[in-house]
Amino acid sequence: MPQHNDPTRLEKWVQSLEKELGFPLTPEAKAKILAILSEQQIRAQTSQSEPKPKKQEEEFVRFSLNIRIQHAVLAVSVLLLIFTGLPLKYHEAAWAEFVMRLFGGISVTRVLHRIAAALLTGVGIYHLFWILGTRAGRRELWYLLPRWKDFKDFYQNIRYFLGFTEERPKFDRYSYIEKFDYWAVYWGMVIMIGSGIILSFFPYLVQVLPKYVFDIAREMHSDEALLATLAIVIWHWYNAHFNPDVFPMNFTIFTGKIPKERMIHEHYWEYVRILQQRERQQSSTTNLQDQTLSMEKGADS
Ligand code: HEM
Repeated sequence: MPQHNDPTRLEKWVQSLEKELGFPLTPEAKAKILAILSEQQIRAQTSQSEPKPKKQEEEFVRFSLNIRIQHAVLAVSVLLLIFTGLPLKYHEAAWAEFVMRLFGGISVTRVLHRIAAALLTGVGIYHLFWILGTRAGRRELWYLLPRWKDFKDFYQNIRYFLGFTEERPKFDRYSYIEKFDYWAVYWGMVIMIGSGIILSFFPYLVQVLPKYVFDIAREMHSDEALLATLAIVIWHWYNAHFNPDVFPMNFTIFTGKIPKERMIHEHYWEYVRILQQRERQQSSTTNLQDQTLSMEKGADS
C-alpha cells in the first residue's frame, strides 16, 4: 500500500498491481482505485495531524459531600474566630484596633466572635453525632485511630528525609500527619468550646462557680487560641497548601476527588484496597451471570 499521496507514486502502485494481476485495468477502474487510495490517505493524514483528545486521568472519590460541608463550616468559623479573637486578646496593639475598626468596632467584633463560636459549636456537636452514630462516620473514625504503623511510618519518613533510605512510607487512608492534624483540631475544639462557654455565660455561672474557674478558662482560651492559630498556619496550611507535592493548593477537600497518581503516592494501601474490592465485585457479578445462564439453560432443556 503506498504511504503518501504523491500521484505519480500512486500510479506506479496501480501499474505494479496490473503486473501482479496479469492483465491491464480499464481507465475507469484505474481512476476509481486512484480516487479511493488518495481519499484514504488524506483521511489517514488528517487524523494523524488532529490533536488526540487528552487521556483523562482516573479520579477516586476521597471525601463525601457531607465531609466537605463539615470542613467548610469548620474552616469559615475558625477563621472568623481567629480574626475576631486575636484582636480582643491584643486589644492594646495598634493593629488590633485597626482590625476591630474594620469589623465595625469592639462590640461588633465581640458579637461576631460569638456568632462564629455558635457555628463552630454546632458543627462540633454534629460531627460527634455523625462520627459515632453513622456507618460512614464510624468508618472514618476507624481509619483515623492511631496505630503502631503510624509510629513506624514516622520513623521511616525521618530516615527518608535524612537520606538513610530511598523508600518513603506507604500510607493508608490517613497518614500519621493527617491523623495528628485531625486529633489536634479535636483536642483544640474541646478546650476552646469548653472554656468559651464558661466565658460566654460568665454573668450566670459566676453565681455558682468560684472566680478561679474563670481565670483558668480565660487563660486556657487565650493561650490555646494562639496555639491553634499557629498549628493551623504552620502545620495544617503547610500540609494542605505549601507542601511542594500539592502547592499551590490541594483541592481534594473542596472537590472530594483525588487523581490516581496522587492516590498511589499518598494513600497507597487505600488504593490497593479499592482495587481488591473492585476485583471481588467483578468476580461476584461474573459468578452471578454464570449461575443465571446455567439456570436458564436448565429451564430450557
Ligand atoms: C478556634 C476557635 C477560637 C479561637 C481561636 C478563639 C479566640 C479567642 C481569643 C484570642 C479571645 C481573647 C482572649 C483574651 O482576652 O485573652 C477570645 C475570647 C472569647 N472567646 Fe473565643 N476563640 C475560639 C472559640 C470560641 C468559642 C467556641 C467560644 C464560645 C463557645 C468562644 C467564646 C469567647 C468569649 C465569650 C470570649 C470573650 C470575648 C469578650 O471579651 O467579649 N470562643 N477568643
